[in-house]
Amino acid sequence: MNTAQVKQSPSQTPADHSASPLRLSYLYVDNFKSLVEFWLPLAEFSCLIGLNGSGKSSVLQAVDFMSRLFKGQVSHWLEQRQWKPADLNSKLTGKSNITFRIDLARGSEVFVWQGSFNRTSLRCTQEWVWINNHLVFTVHEGHYLFLDERGGWIRTKITFDYEGSIFSLLRDETFSEHSCR
Ligand SMILES: Nc1ncnc2c1ncn2[C@@H]1O[C@H](COP(=O)(O)OP(=O)(O)O)[C@@H](O)[C@H]1O
Ligand SMILES: [Mg+2]
Repeated sequence: MNTAQVKQSPSQTPADHSASPLRLSYLYVDNFKSLVEFWLPLAEFSCLIGLNGSGKSSVLQAVDFMSRLFKGQVSHWLEQRQWKPADLNSKLTGKSNITFRIDLARGSEVFVWQGSFNRTSLRCTQEWVWINNHLVFTVHEGHYLFLDERGGWIRTKITFDYEGSIFSLLRDETFSEHSCR
């Protein structure tokens, strides 16, 4: 995608951070449909403009794809769209995995989720979460690791099956047990 443009409104900092919702502030995706090493900073109001075929729908599909990774059941999502896993990858690259990153902002706080999706297993084989530039969670070589409240890493072998992100299955209690601060 190179001709679609984004019109942005000036960003505003809400006075009350605790009351403001999380906002998608940045998107990066590589090897998804027509998007190759594509990044998009987003303001509070952003508008995609571009010629037919410039990649507007691909951007929206990428956001939908990442949302689905978080919810799991990727194969069901593919069936609904009548896509095969091979349809996800860009025909413009020889890469296998789709890599992505999203930034969610709330006031001065920034949550970053980054991952690498394997189309054969339909799973993110690597994931990272940063809160305010501190790495607090990662998935790596069949394990997930949390940063505990004392600053040590808790490493757990992944023994369950899932599609998409591990967050589609990890329960909220897992996070409340180990403070990520
Ligand atoms: N897997 C893919 N690899 C590379 N290009 C693709 C892939 N799937 C679709 N495209 C191409 O991406 C281009 C952008 O399409 P699209 O996002 O629908 O544009 P728009 O919504 O701006 O009209 C089209 O030319 C389409 O053929
Ligand atoms: Mg379109």
